[in-house]
Amino acid sequence: MTSRINRLRTSLASSDIDALYVTHLVNIRYLSGFTGSSGLLLVTPETARLYVDSRYHVQAEQQTSGVEVCRCQSRLTAEAWDDIKTLAPERIGFEATHITVAAHEDLAKGIPGSTLVPVRNLIEELRLVKDEDEIAITRRACAMADELFEWLLGFIKPGMCEQDVDVELEYQMRKRGAQGPAFPSIIVSGVNSSKPHGTPSSKVIETGDFITMDFGVRLDGYNSDITRTVAVGKADDKQREVYEVVRKAQAAAVEALRPGIGHLEADAVARDIITEAGYGPKFGHALGHSLGLDVHDGYRLSNVTDPEGKVQQGEIWTVEPGIYIEDWGGVRIEDDVLVTADGSERLTKSTRELIII
Ligand code: GLY
Ligand code: MN
Repeated sequence: MTSRINRLRTSLASSDIDALYVTHLVNIRYLSGFTGSSGLLLVTPETARLYVDSRYHVQAEQQTSGVEVCRCQSRLTAEAWDDIKTLAPERIGFEATHITVAAHEDLAKGIPGSTLVPVRNLIEELRLVKDEDEIAITRRACAMADELFEWLLGFIKPGMCEQDVDVELEYQMRKRGAQGPAFPSIIVSGVNSSKPHGTPSSKVIETGDFITMDFGVRLDGYNSDITRTVAVGKADDKQREVYEVVRKAQAAAVEALRPGIGHLEADAVARDIITEAGYGPKFGHALGHSLGLDVHDGYRLSNVTDPEGKVQQGEIWTVEPGIYIEDWGGVRIEDDVLVTADGSERLTKSTRELIII
């Protein structure tokens, strides 16, 4: 963990703050290894202090490296602030995208001698490029998602409802050793599949439906995120046509993903294919997102955000174009993709050909 903190210190050196006050637990985990549900981390050029309450004294000592564990009793924040005051940092950066207005007000009162400076994405930017350990864990999480998709193909039968599939899928995740779902699974069928983030319902799965299944597992803190759309019993010409457009768009975008391509440019590769086929307005979301300790790990391959962002080796992105037609249905195909030295590698490997179950 020391190397991560040192990378953060390099970022601090080029910013105008003397210390970073880290509250987002995922960022605390990334920098220290601590996985508890409560804690605060202060990083300065000279020190890195993790403040935890008595529930986590032992766990924090066991899990962390590169930080000094400060054992607070019951008043975690007040005790942490008293300690931070002894360090007297002039300008303290806080994670502007992760702190509430009330917590900011309390912090300002708690450390009145320091100026609070909002910072964005300082740690998220470091998290974008994964190290070998992170890639290895994500590979395992993706392999489990592939196994679960194979299992779903054998499990789903017409007459079940979407919730039946969702519940059983979660059980299968846990049984295989995952901490749980990476996010609430999306299992939507028939006209429900036109809702990109629909919720599994009591709707019964019927012959002729598309079923979109978007799910992933969390394993050792890291996430996978796969989507496949399959047809039940048969697929008509329109279903095949729409599916093929999405399949081609996804294949082209994965093929294009390589170091140096712009976030916007990658998005356009898929979007142009969908637009040329006449479905542009039916693809409303971003092409993908960075994937890691958070499912949405901070950045997007998008036509609207990060106009300057460029893809780098070692990043893991989802590539997930879709077409959604109200009152008809939808198709999405999503893979998790590692950016390599000269291209990319799919970490989820399930077939993208149209499957009829
Ligand atoms: N696969 C769910 C999401 O990307 O939000
Ligand atoms: Mn996704």
